[in-house]
Amino acid sequence: MNSTVEVCFVCLGNICRSPLAQGVFEALVKQEELQDRIIISSAGTSHWHVGGPPDPRMQQTARQHGIHLNSRARQFQATDFKRMDLVLAMDHSNLDSLQQMRPAAELHDKLFLFRSFDPENNGDLNVPDPYYGGDKGFEAVYQMVERTCPKVLQHLQTKLAKKA
Ligand code: 4NP
Repeated sequence: MNSTVEVCFVCLGNICRSPLAQGVFEALVKQEELQDRIIISSAGTSHWHVGGPPDPRMQQTARQHGIHLNSRARQFQATDFKRMDLVLAMDHSNLDSLQQMRPAAELHDKLFLFRSFDPENNGDLNVPDPYYGGDKGFEAVYQMVERTCPKVLQHLQTKLAKKA
């Protein structure tokens, strides 16, 4: 049987940034026919929107780029780290929350900032929270996510190759 790897994208509410990353990454993985090898999810560090759909503004931006978002918000649990190969925090605040859940030694090879994979990060490793801003914020998040996902895929392919 082929081995699998599991990735989770994590933001604060799990209704804007991480559902978009999940949707864009799912489309990319399907295009590469790797959907049987890579398990994809997203979660929030807060419980605020648990069970809810992605924000309508994020859904609309995604739809404009041919991406359908169908996740439901979930709060990340400390126990999730065990089965994950890669956990990607959308900003430093999300990273801090996740780091508080487990000893650093357990997380060093699986917990990273999403934009550490962004080829155009110019040293800025936060995906800005678009929730309280205008529509331009959602499109800016889309652009960051779209150009970063292929680099995340490369990283996971390396992990897959090591597991095979
Ligand atoms: P997200 O955005 O973390 O990208 O899902 C937010 C969604 C909701 C809230 C904050 C950020 N909120 O304050 O409810």
